[in-house]
Amino acid sequence: MKSVPDKRIVNDLKNWFINYVNVFKYADIELQQNIDVKRTHTERVVEEIINIGKQIGLNDTELNLAEIIALFHDIGRFEQYKRYNTFSDKKSENHAELGARILTEYNVLGMLDKETRKLILCSIKYHNRPLLPSRESITCLFYSRLIRDADKLDIWRLVIDHYLSDYNCRNVALELELPDTPGISEEVYKALVNKHIVDIKHVKNINDIKLLQAGWIFDINFKPTFEAVKNRRYIESLRDVLPDTIEITEIFNIIRSYIDNYYRSSSGINLDSNQL
Ligand SMILES: [Fe+2]
Repeated sequence: MKSVPDKRIVNDLKNWFINYVNVFKYADIELQQNIDVKRTHTERVVEEIINIGKQIGLNDTELNLAEIIALFHDIGRFEQYKRYNTFSDKKSENHAELGARILTEYNVLGMLDKETRKLILCSIKYHNRPLLPSRESITCLFYSRLIRDADKLDIWRLVIDHYLSDYNCRNVALELELPDTPGISEEVYKALVNKHIVDIKHVKNINDIKLLQAGWIFDINFKPTFEAVKNRRYIESLRDVLPDTIEITEIFNIIRSYIDNYYRSSSGINLDSNQL
């Protein structure tokens, strides 16, 4: 009989993940580092999603489902890197779609019922979209929002550590091979002053990608995620690694007032498990 996700299934899937990732081995230190970064990122996103999930009151089955989504959300990254030697979707293919295909090809989720499988695959496919579609089931959108929040929390940690590291140790794969040129793109500026998230297609240099990452604040769905961003000072850290220009100062003033307004409004954007 096909099941809903219990702890035994989660553990089996974790083992599958470990065995699958272990196959991607490189003699070159930098290449292997990139694989390790994605593995560690996955582990942390699992922690983040459980953290958020507990704080918004998910039950055990819902937490298990969230954990599986986090475990596999970037499964396409390993094959993407092997095939194309890049993490840039623009230069290769969409890693979320690739991941969903891999899970289906290997029948990784075969022990789960059809409904649960569908939910996992749809949340993975939507985890990296600029915007979520409106015509989807409430449950699919809920888990998609959850993985998007958890994923962002760990990417913020990862990229900020990276930007603060020694420039000579920089890794081009993590910077999506973007040039470190001065200035920012007009489209990036326009999106952010209008409190919209930036479409990756407008990103032309490292300043743009840092701003895109700061602008993720406009796409945060759950209160615990907001609190983590605030407590960990992610926005301040991104500001510190960007140049002091009038445009950038304006963008960060808008972001700061967006966060302040969120805290001032009584209800905020606190979607919780009642929306399931
Ligand atoms: Fe991710």
